[in-house]
Amino acid sequence: MPEIRFYSGEPIPLELHKVKIVQKLDLVPVERRAEAMAEAGFNTFLLRNKDIYLDMLTDSGVNAMSDRQLAAMMIADDSYAGSATFTRLTDKLTEIFGTEYFLPAHQGRAAENIIAMTFVEKGSIIPMNYHFTTTKAHITRLGGYVEEVVIDEGIKVTSDHPFKGNFDLDKLRKLFEEKGDRIPFVRIEAGTNLIGGQPLSLENIIAVADMTHSYGKPVVMDASLLQDNLYFIKTREESAKDLSIREITRRIADKMDIIYFSARKLGFARGGGISIHDRELYLRMRELVPMFEGFLTYGGMSVREMEAMAVGLEETMDMDVISQGPLFIRYMTDELIRLGIPVVTPAGGLGCHLDATRFIPHVRQEEYPAGSLGAAVYIAGGIRGMERGTISEQREEDGSEHLAAVELLRLAMPRRVFTLSQVKYAIDRIRWLYDHRDLIGGLRFVEEPSSLRFFFGRLEPVSDWPEKLVKAFREDFGESL
Ligand code: F0G
Repeated sequence: MPEIRFYSGEPIPLELHKVKIVQKLDLVPVERRAEAMAEAGFNTFLLRNKDIYLDMLTDSGVNAMSDRQLAAMMIADDSYAGSATFTRLTDKLTEIFGTEYFLPAHQGRAAENIIAMTFVEKGSIIPMNYHFTTTKAHITRLGGYVEEVVIDEGIKVTSDHPFKGNFDLDKLRKLFEEKGDRIPFVRIEAGTNLIGGQPLSLENIIAVADMTHSYGKPVVMDASLLQDNLYFIKTREESAKDLSIREITRRIADKMDIIYFSARKLGFARGGGISIHDRELYLRMRELVPMFEGFLTYGGMSVREMEAMAVGLEETMDMDVISQGPLFIRYMTDELIRLGIPVVTPAGGLGCHLDATRFIPHVRQEEYPAGSLGAAVYIAGGIRGMERGTISEQREEDGSEHLAAVELLRLAMPRRVFTLSQVKYAIDRIRWLYDHRDLIGGLRFVEEPSSLRFFFGRLEPVSDWPEKLVKAFREDFGESL
């Protein structure tokens, strides 16, 4: 999707695709939305799709697929072992990443499980720019620790730094000098999920890899969000602007020892896996695949999804394809900024992120502002976002609350799924909510699971604020949904 300028001067991102298949959506009345939110324990993960108009929970496994991907699914070769589909997929990964070996896994966290079980032991320290929920859960389950070494700018919600996902190289070196013997590998998340889909620069990726190798340790890349990161390297990094997406990908991959990914994001399908250059590393992880995932030529994935993934990976090398997400996100972010609504800047990948700390400063962090804002956005517009704040953290070993560095509501932009009028609707309802932000109150847990609590935890409002919000909506919108 190139930036095509409109004669009117309006900064509208123009789609370079057309819609071939559609799914009907419903928008239920605001009273039902408030009821559905209560039934879901004020946790947007527990809402049912029939109550949702715009599902901006995630981009995971819900990106629109291309006609070529669907066509490829029809020629998938079903067999327990030796499937031709698997060969096509591994050939594509070899072509793109230059890696010789591939271990299939049913999704990204399954790849994380395999990597953690192979390398992490009690007391291990895994440096990374920023953690992801499932990554951290696998590492801590095995007695390891995550050390975040993102640049200070990374957790500043508003910034004009083009690469807020970069590693702080001094912090990483210090960690190696002080605790190097406990570090089995360094993990690079490109780009960072929990701090707003913020990318790393090619220069920083190479510097991290070189430093890690100088200490004799392997580098592992989580490439789940790599497609957005490639777009940002190409458009924001001066020294990369003349490189093709394929060349940038290869420069990155050549420096990695292991590249794992969720194909629910990278490759616009469903599945995941681990690409590896070195045979010895491959062999160390290999036997875990048939034990936990499935045989080595499918790893728990359907062959149809693998076929779609191979095509999706090829399409990821096309700037027209990978720019749609970031350009729609930038449109939404810029419009919200224009309206004075607090968002993460600069616009990153994955989605538009509302800054709950500034949106509802009167809600204390112990009462989960990002979760509260998520419930309020759903009630206001039937729009489902994802809490990315304290609820998404784990409690400390002593049971105390771990307050998140940032309280964000992520409004994901599944690729090629929404039209611009739907995005405009989301902006409009958020604008209304911002004008009524004083009505929004906090939440407290009524059921709190001990790990990954954001998935199934149930909460309740600390006051009758949801009812007040419904009343205000009716007053302003009359009979409108
Ligand atoms: N790593 C990153 C950076 C991710 O964003 C995800 C998933 C995973 C690993 C795990 O992959 O879901 O296939 O098991 N992120 C999803 C999201 C869940 O909504 O952001 P998975």
